Amino acid sequence: MKPVRVALLGCGTVGEGVVKLMRRNAALLERKLGVPLELAGVADRSLRPSAALGLTAKLITRDAAALVVRPDVDIVVELFGGREPARALILKALAAGKDVVTANKALLAEHGEQIFAAAAKAGMAIGFEASVGGGVPIIRTLREALAGDRQRAVYGIVNGTCNSILTMMTEQGAEFSQALAEAQRMGLAEANPALDIEGHDAAHKLCLLVTLAFGALLKPPQVHTEGISHITQADIAYARELGFTIKLLAIAKDDDGAIEARVHPTMIPTRHLLAGVAGAFNAIYIHGEALGSTMYFGLGAGQMPTATAVMADVLEIARARSAGAGARGHALGYPMASMTRARVKPMDDVLCEYYLRFEARDKPGVLGAIASVLGRGGISIASVIQQGRGMEGTVPVIMRTHEARERNLKRALARIRRLDTVSGTPAFIRIEERL
Ligand SMILES: NC(=O)c1ccc[n+]([C@@H]2O[C@H](COP(=O)([O-])OP(=O)(O)OC[C@H]3O[C@@H](n4cnc5c(N)ncnc54)[C@H](OP(=O)(O)O)[C@@H]3O)[C@@H](O)[C@H]2O)c1
Repeated sequence: MKPVRVALLGCGTVGEGVVKLMRRNAALLERKLGVPLELAGVADRSLRPSAALGLTAKLITRDAAALVVRPDVDIVVELFGGREPARALILKALAAGKDVVTANKALLAEHGEQIFAAAAKAGMAIGFEASVGGGVPIIRTLREALAGDRQRAVYGIVNGTCNSILTMMTEQGAEFSQALAEAQRMGLAEANPALDIEGHDAAHKLCLLVTLAFGALLKPPQVHTEGISHITQADIAYARELGFTIKLLAIAKDDDGAIEARVHPTMIPTRHLLAGVAGAFNAIYIHGEALGSTMYFGLGAGQMPTATAVMADVLEIARARSAGAGARGHALGYPMASMTRARVKPMDDVLCEYYLRFEARDKPGVLGAIASVLGRGGISIASVIQQGRGMEGTVPVIMRTHEARERNLKRALARIRRLDTVSGTPAFIRIEERL
């Protein structure tokens, strides 16, 4: 009955949740494992002993580097966040024969290749269920449940901050800045929200989803990334009129080996399941060749949802350890040797339908001039909305295009911008109608 012993790096939001689950569910976990699961130590720079959490002074250390190589530690759970020292500590733990669990999507997106290769070389496990979708078990699903199928497309609402802001804009008519301030007040957005609202957090998660879905390594700079700060209440209202809802989607498609990887605000049909995913919830919608479409939904962040995902990895590893299983599975669902580097389709080559919004002078022939530039660029118009007068003699002109290549669209918009009958920069949002 040798216990499995866990070292925790970081007892902040998620780390505290892990301690609570290990304490609260100790008997249940022991029943599931057949052996006790014990906390060997907690490294954190500001943690104090806590009777409520069962954290004695003896368990707490400031010396994370010493903790991760201690002989009585089996599994290291990294919840410091950030790049360093998290990366160095994970590598040190793996080299010392410890299995590792982490929730650190930014680190894995940027240094995953090194970390996964080190785990494979050491024959150790690396669990990262909590790094995408918080409590939504998407990593395991892609790696195991869907392993027999070929994935064709992944669409994720994977950033709760952006989804909360867009939900407030849609349901309460708030402008972006008001919705962001409200999200910050409610603790749904960081004081410095750039990583979330500019789409970078979603891009980190998309890198991991692409690797699991397509067996191809991808780094954040390869992902076309746009945030939501330019979305206006007008766009939300016109989207509604056209039957769409705006979501920040992380999209990956496998076009026979060329991979589309993009994060941007997207108009999707309001009747689609993803459009109903509101507030801090996350959802990942996957299209598999044999299975068809499935969707995975739940809370994408927060103490207990994320800690639950961390514990899923801890339990899987502890089961393997207590069963005496030596070799670990492939963390990414592919051996590193058969992993390819993603061949990413340039954004200019991507085909999409588009929503376009222009501020046009209220003069005859304006619509014709815009349509003519689009036509010359090979972009055909599916529908037009032109409404009453706007500010200072301009009228908003809304168009929906048929499928067009991004390169042609960008060229046409640059030409339209130079028309003296159009003021300001034309706005465009990509549409995914057939997801
Ligand atoms: N929060 C979520 O809902 C969520 C969801 C999914 C994934 N994650 C990921 O989970 C990880 C942890 O997130 P979190 O929200 O729990 O972060 P957090 O609340 O900031 O907790 C991190 C803890 O680690 C400590 N720490 C950080 N670096 C340290 C160092 N070098 N030495 C000693 N202590 C150190 C921090 O101390 P100080 O407070 O003194 O800095 C803090 O107590 C991150 O990778 C995050 O991306 C979080």
